[in-house]
Amino acid sequence: MARHGLDAVLTRVAGIVGSPHVVVDPEVTRPYTVDWTGRFHGTTPAVIRPGSVEELAEVVRVCAEARVAIVPQGGNTGLVGGGVPLEGELVLSTRRLTALGEVDEIAGQVTAGAGVAISALQERARAAGLEYPVDLAARDSATVGGTIATNAGGLHVIRWGGTRAQLRGIEAVLADGSVVRHLGGLPKDNTGLDLAGLLCGSEGTLGVVTAARLALVPRLPERVVTLVGFEDLRAAVAVVARVRRGLSCLNAAEVFFADGLALVCEVEGLREPFGRSWPVYVLLEASDHDDPTERMSSALAAAGVTGDVAVGTDARTRAELWAYRERHTSAINTLGPPHKLDLSLPLPMLPDFIARLPEVVARHAPSARTWLFGHIGDGNLHVNITGTAPDDEEVDDIIFRMVASCGGSISAEHGIGTAKKRWLHLNRSAAEVRAFRRIKRALDPVGILNPNVLLPPE
Ligand code: FAD
Ligand code: MLT
Ligand code: ZN
Repeated sequence: MARHGLDAVLTRVAGIVGSPHVVVDPEVTRPYTVDWTGRFHGTTPAVIRPGSVEELAEVVRVCAEARVAIVPQGGNTGLVGGGVPLEGELVLSTRRLTALGEVDEIAGQVTAGAGVAISALQERARAAGLEYPVDLAARDSATVGGTIATNAGGLHVIRWGGTRAQLRGIEAVLADGSVVRHLGGLPKDNTGLDLAGLLCGSEGTLGVVTAARLALVPRLPERVVTLVGFEDLRAAVAVVARVRRGLSCLNAAEVFFADGLALVCEVEGLREPFGRSWPVYVLLEASDHDDPTERMSSALAAAGVTGDVAVGTDARTRAELWAYRERHTSAINTLGPPHKLDLSLPLPMLPDFIARLPEVVARHAPSARTWLFGHIGDGNLHVNITGTAPDDEEVDDIIFRMVASCGGSISAEHGIGTAKKRWLHLNRSAAEVRAFRRIKRALDPVGILNPNVLLPPE
């Protein structure tokens, strides 16, 4: 669009949200144009920060009329380059939509604005004796809207499911500026299509989420975290499967490896947990109304655990054990922008898949390093590759094809964004992608909502 046309749009937008909320200073807009990893960059003429759903709807209406593309953005913690303006789009920030309702203790639900941080939502739920079960290391910045748009998974999926499982209703602005609102939260409501379910995981391509009705779970005050060292991954996978069967209050089953732990300890100045290094580490967390420590240790003994075990029953020790796992993301980022391949694999295939990786990476990117960690209970492996150029996708290509040939997914929880759209066909048939395109065209005929993510060019 010609500059004067864009200026006219920004003038109209400033009339809606107020000039201070149309940010054009490149120094201030810069952080909105680079993703968390530093791998994906773009530019934007302006960041727009509406303060209400009405303002946001008006802004979208003006942009639709003028055919100006928009990228919705929440906390900008996404890891697939989906929330940054890759082709000069306007950034529509939801960070001012921070209304957070009182917890409905009878329904066990709360209504939260799209810009509410996950940690703020968790705090509100806890104060009412409840818990928002979606949890992730980015909790202080990731927003309700962003986690819905990506259908974020996180650390507790084995027990409570991911974001879609908590969604009881949604308010969103569609590409023509109309508002769809269904926030009643009825657990049973079969009155037509599930728009909340459709928008969840749509990565800002079908609508801008402005608020959501979310289910909460009971707060289970007694908690134990256990870190176990293993000689090999096959043994770890077998133990996790047995513990899951024997311990119904298990919240999390996470994995990391010796080199990742060493990096985390070096970057964070932490001491390694045991007197010796183990090739594989599994972190397990359980919580219940009464202390699950004994049950955890019986489950581990019954599963045949023989390696070192560290147990955290108080808040400080639990946090120390979690730090070894949660700080992988930031520690790896200190080595330069990684390629983040967030994969799902059938669990029995995980050990062989991992065993093949070093040779594959060494052959195609000899100077690269591979870092592995993830949510072992879900078969969700985070493969991080450092030491390759941001746009060198040869290794990504080979690994995604390996995953697809094992019946796995190229995106377990981070989404497709821009990072993976050229490989969507590995997991989705031509008929499915055609259906995605038809839905996109029906809801966004002009193509103004996040036009450069999820779907590859036709
Ligand atoms: P953004 O990054 O701002 O946006 C992400 C996508 O959602 C973009 O496509 C954007 O256009 C769209 N979007 C944002 N807000 C809206 C809205 N209101 N309406 C419509 N579309 C919108 N992810 C996991 O799944 N599990 C993890 O365990 C996990 N751990 C992480 C740990 C760290 C340290 C970091 C940095 C990231 C982690 N992530 C994880 C990734 C990230 O936090 C999630 O993808 C999260 O859902 C993004 O939320 P956000 O508010 O930052 O969204
Ligand atoms: C995690 O599980 O820690 C996140 O998904 C972030 C990442 O993959 O780096
Ligand atoms: Zn993850």
